[in-house]
Amino acid sequence: MDINFVKTIQKDADTIILPVYEGTDEKRFDLITGSLDTATAKAIETIANKSKSFKAKHGSTLLMNLPEGAPADHAILLGLGQAGDMTPYKAEEAGGKLFAALKGTGATLINIIIETGHAAGDNSPSTIAAHIAYGMELRSYKFDLYKSKKKDNEDETPVVRAAFVISTDNEAENIFTPLKCVASGVYTARDFVNEPPNTLYPESYAAQIKEQLKPLGVSVEILDEKKMIKMGMGAIMAVGKGSERQPRMVIMKWNGGAKNKHPVLLVGKGVTFDTGGISIKPGAGMDEMKMDMGGSAAVVGTMKALALRKSKANVIGIVGLAENMPSHNAYRPGDIVKSYSGKTIEVLNTDAEGRLVLADCLTYGQEIANPEAIIDLATLTGAIMVALGHEYCGGFVNNDELWGKLESSSARTGEKLWRMPLDPVYKKDMEGTFGDLQNLGKSGRWGGSCTAAGFLEHFINEGTPWAHLDIAGTAWIKSDKATVPKYGTGFGVRILNDFIAEYYE
Ligand code: BES
Ligand code: MN
Ligand code: ZN
Repeated sequence: MDINFVKTIQKDADTIILPVYEGTDEKRFDLITGSLDTATAKAIETIANKSKSFKAKHGSTLLMNLPEGAPADHAILLGLGQAGDMTPYKAEEAGGKLFAALKGTGATLINIIIETGHAAGDNSPSTIAAHIAYGMELRSYKFDLYKSKKKDNEDETPVVRAAFVISTDNEAENIFTPLKCVASGVYTARDFVNEPPNTLYPESYAAQIKEQLKPLGVSVEILDEKKMIKMGMGAIMAVGKGSERQPRMVIMKWNGGAKNKHPVLLVGKGVTFDTGGISIKPGAGMDEMKMDMGGSAAVVGTMKALALRKSKANVIGIVGLAENMPSHNAYRPGDIVKSYSGKTIEVLNTDAEGRLVLADCLTYGQEIANPEAIIDLATLTGAIMVALGHEYCGGFVNNDELWGKLESSSARTGEKLWRMPLDPVYKKDMEGTFGDLQNLGKSGRWGGSCTAAGFLEHFINEGTPWAHLDIAGTAWIKSDKATVPKYGTGFGVRILNDFIAEYYE
């Protein structure tokens, strides 16, 4: 779908979209039709008044046929809810709903008409237009790489061009441009998550990251298994030992800021497939464990967004890539491995592999970067879904200021985040019997997400602000609300990008 911003209604548009706020007092809604001819405006008003159920509730739509002579065949009213509640994120949501409502209408070229009257609070008409566009862009994602016949079925909208008609077209476009960069990063993250595990494995994934990011000016370094063994990265290497496809670590650097400024470090779990290893998982739904690299995908997607929008921040992204397989070579419960930090870890369950991968990435990242803050993302525990379902990601943060920033990035982007506890008790729970640490808490299943975070805390240097985001519930969606019933969400790209944009540029 092509999105652009124009000054006048296009002659070849088949559908015009009128965003509408809820009305006040007796009026159900506030139709703003300034740039339409009087006859068309009147016709739309008459039809809308007859459709008693349309109240311009946020995200609701009303499709109507237009009379002969009107500038398009159809019109859709798009409810924006109360003007007083309008935010950029609300506009995004409305854009997503609009895209969904276009399905099956046959619309191909739409004109979304934005007037000065659409301003609401701090939000200019340009802001509203750009964010509706962003919501449409995010919603129009599909993953059909492996469909041999790509015909549009009626479920899929054929919209090819969405033109926003707005008098301040440049201003809207200037707001949309960086948003489009973020959407591109979200797409990249989703693509990687959706890619099947037979084509996406550590080596191929690392090569893809390099191919995509290098041309954008991101420096990309890949550590292969020989290098990692030599360096003593015994934790990530243990996880990948059972697989034919050996681990990789990828270090991405974006230097948009001053040379002497310490970077933000982003770390992502990239288990390209998690069978559980020798502590093998049950078979049902195991296909979904291709999404166990969702944290790494969010980091890669964010690096892409930063590079595309030419962020002025210094950011280092590190992803640990491994495939967790059972085999005669696999690591076992009972093994004691030595992590890159020097700390030894007794493996009590080979399915608690993500924390081992992250441990070496975190140590290496702090060694090379001396970061101002660390944020890691990982599909780390099933327990976070027991706690928060698919709605919220769990955030474990050792610094209140960092938490405050992440919380506001969450509110601005709509990627929901709930603070979870880091407590010395959880950290202590991960101390080992035969090794320094063990990869399973002594309290077993209880508080599984918290003990996992407690394990990671052993690898964070004293005093470094750090956030661990457990995205096991949010990286992947199984829902009939989605464009496709199961797919990668790209969760994390928006919150990370906003965090960097807002506090580092
Ligand atoms: N990748 C899983 C966590 C996961 C589960 C992500 C479901 C997405 C959906 C992780 O490696 C794992 O297996 N965790 C175990 C930890 C346990 C063995 C301590 C879990 O959550 O059961
Ligand atoms: Mn696992
Ligand atoms: Zn896993």
